Amino acid sequence: MRFTYECCDCGKTFESEEVLYQCPDCSRLNDGSTFPKGNLIVRLNKDDLQALAKKDHVDMYDFFPYTIPTPQVYPVGGTPLATPARLCKKYGIKNLTCKLDSALPSGSFKDRASQLIAAQAIAHGENRIALASTGNAGAAMSCAGAAYGLDIILFVPATAPINKLMQSVLYGATVVPVKGTYDDAFALSIAYTERFGGINRNTAYNPMTIEGKKSISIELFEQMGRKVPDVVYVPVGDGCIYAGVFKGFQDLLEAGIIEKLPHIVCVQSKQSNAISQAWKTGEFKCLENATTRADSISVESPANGRMAVRYIKECKGWATEVEDTEIFEAQLELTREAGIFVEPAAACAWAGVVKDSKMLLEKFGKEVSVCTLLTGTGFKDMAAFAGRVSIPEAIENSKEAVIKYFEK
Ligand SMILES: Cc1ncc(COP(=O)(O)O)c(C=O)c1O
Repeated sequence: MRFTYECCDCGKTFESEEVLYQCPDCSRLNDGSTFPKGNLIVRLNKDDLQALAKKDHVDMYDFFPYTIPTPQVYPVGGTPLATPARLCKKYGIKNLTCKLDSALPSGSFKDRASQLIAAQAIAHGENRIALASTGNAGAAMSCAGAAYGLDIILFVPATAPINKLMQSVLYGATVVPVKGTYDDAFALSIAYTERFGGINRNTAYNPMTIEGKKSISIELFEQMGRKVPDVVYVPVGDGCIYAGVFKGFQDLLEAGIIEKLPHIVCVQSKQSNAISQAWKTGEFKCLENATTRADSISVESPANGRMAVRYIKECKGWATEVEDTEIFEAQLELTREAGIFVEPAAACAWAGVVKDSKMLLEKFGKEVSVCTLLTGTGFKDMAAFAGRVSIPEAIENSKEAVIKYFEK
């Protein structure tokens, strides 16, 4: 589909056949003192978009600015929509659904962005993609690289969680640990692409990362019988997933396929709440120290914070903050009462639903339809269970031991 770019901050539009990253005017002054400026929004051609309204069924490929080469090579999308019956009953919300993006190829939502970035690279004849990541984005890009035969150069802070890094190493990426922070790794990945070429996939810096993530909303719309939920809960760190989810619904609206946007809720840990606070106070202040144990959403300077705050307002959404203890409770509740196993960052979204459940019923009534986006599998971070669950001791290998065990 034909497209242009628009700066999220100054509104300037750019038409280019080249790969564009940021608005040169707005991004020039970024110095880390406040949320970065100059991220670009991909604007699809209005005529192309509106032509989609004639179709009985749409899929995410209809809405992408690049054609995905042989999608089954790296099968992203089509994730299950669970209806957790026991939790519906427990919280009195009949129409609760959970979108299991934990089932994507590399185990997280980030595959959605990596799919489009791989397509962008292939369309521009590039075989190399560089990025900085501490976890899921790196693993997802490396997974796409293995599937399509692309070279992935991944800059990581040397202190990044080992289990997620190991996944990228296994997929065959060139992993470059940096003695520095995520921001340092980010800057080095840009230095790499400036010197050696290739595509840069840094989250939010490349606008196609947000554009790729919108596929979930289009998929959800069809999965729910061509309807959108009233409320969608999203776990938030940098604000890219939030913006992607918004963009998918916005494209459907602009195409004339839906009539209104859902309320999209930004859920953050109280220990990493920069976007939530910016929405509440109107000030784009970075945090001194983000300390949530949900490492995927631990962010001090949100790379897409300004766009996320704008979109929270545009869809009449809100921000809900939860304690880390509530995230851990939500994680176990999903596991034990719905059979859904997710990492702490994803459980943050469910913790938000739990926290808001009474308010949702009061505000929207008991027919309210609520969808929670569960963005990463629990296998990503088994260490998060240490001290919370334990494996029972072994019994002797005898029938007597079984009887004794169950009679006690
Ligand atoms: C599993 C998971 N959930 C949620 C998020 C938050 O996404 P964003 O940083 O775009 O807000 C991330 C980001 O890494 C993630 O990996």
